[in-house]
Amino acid sequence: MGLNSTTRWKWLLASATLAVVLSGSFSEIPFGFISGTLIGTLIGTPANAEDGGNLYNTELDVTQGRSYFERQCSRCHGFDATGNDETGAPDLTGRLNRASTDVGIFDILRNGIAGTAMLPVSATLPDTQIWQLVAYINSLSADPANIQLPGNAVAGMELFTGKGDCDSCHMISGKGGRLGSDLSFVGDRRDPEELVSDLITPTKDVEPRWWRLRITGRDGTVREGFRMNESSFSVRIMDTDENLWSYAANQIETYARVTDSTMPSFAQTLTDSEVDDLVAYLFSLRKEI
Ligand code: HEC
Ligand code: HEC
Repeated sequence: MGLNSTTRWKWLLASATLAVVLSGSFSEIPFGFISGTLIGTLIGTPANAEDGGNLYNTELDVTQGRSYFERQCSRCHGFDATGNDETGAPDLTGRLNRASTDVGIFDILRNGIAGTAMLPVSATLPDTQIWQLVAYINSLSADPANIQLPGNAVAGMELFTGKGDCDSCHMISGKGGRLGSDLSFVGDRRDPEELVSDLITPTKDVEPRWWRLRITGRDGTVREGFRMNESSFSVRIMDTDENLWSYAANQIETYARVTDSTMPSFAQTLTDSEVDDLVAYLFSLRKEI
């Protein structure tokens, strides 16, 4: 059930690459360093592909999980699991950064997170007890149906295509632009607090797939865009007008990665209540279960 050696290798490699790439929000990288596969490993979690789900998910399991958590985990993650800045242990009550499935959480507990204070649980701890911890951690994320938001979703929907002009970059149900993520089910991915931060401080936590390349050609032109294709011989980018530009390797003078967001902050251009309305709308966009 643990991380196999390939996954572990990829994960180490990903961390090493991230360290290089993140060493400045704008860093020069020799052409050819980043291959498609390498970027692939940066995205996603180290969880195994298949997720059989958690069989130990009764109320009793959750209670057992909680009591183990309070004894073994709370000194770092806090008694209520909301995290602790001093130990650097994150909040476990919302969406996790490192895992999106039960198996992913299980793997973190069984194997720890290499190079961090998050150590594996005792090797003799039975799988059942780890699953109970998983059940407890899952029980901490709030059921969206019980969350009361201050905003008005209908007003938010109007702002999305109106004053906010969000649809120039984002698609919902097949309508809108391609310069930002598809938001059709964004309520499944982001909680209301994260949605506020998406609107106010978009440049925080930009996922690698939204990073851009800034290319200075041998002819002196500078262009920036999302990386569309890349090989050892050429690279193709899409600029903000959705134009595609191709470069042969020998046409490129310098090549840099830009890791901030192209999304403007709406801190100044929308009122607090408009932000609330948009958040209520976005949070309502979920897959029907
Ligand atoms: C010595 C402090 C410490 C203890 C004890 C500890 N953790 Fe952690 N934990 C951390 C730190 C630090 C991280 C963040 C590592 C990173 O991602 O850089 C973390 C990360 C995690 C994550 C991933 C969070 C995410 O957002 O992806 C989970 C899940 C987790 N811990 C669960 C537990 C559980 C369950 C226990 C008890 C069995 C436990 N931890 C015990 C320090 C600790
Ligand atoms: C100029 C293009 C652009 C505009 C205009 C724009 N966005 Fe974005 N948005 C992006 C990009 C690119 C990202 C991904 C990078 C990031 O996380 O900031 C993003 C990310 C997001 C996210 C996080 C999505 C996720 O998949 O996790 C949300 C939510 C969001 N935008 C909502 C909005 C709303 C609401 C508006 C209008 C008020 C808006 N955006 C306007 C480009 C844009």
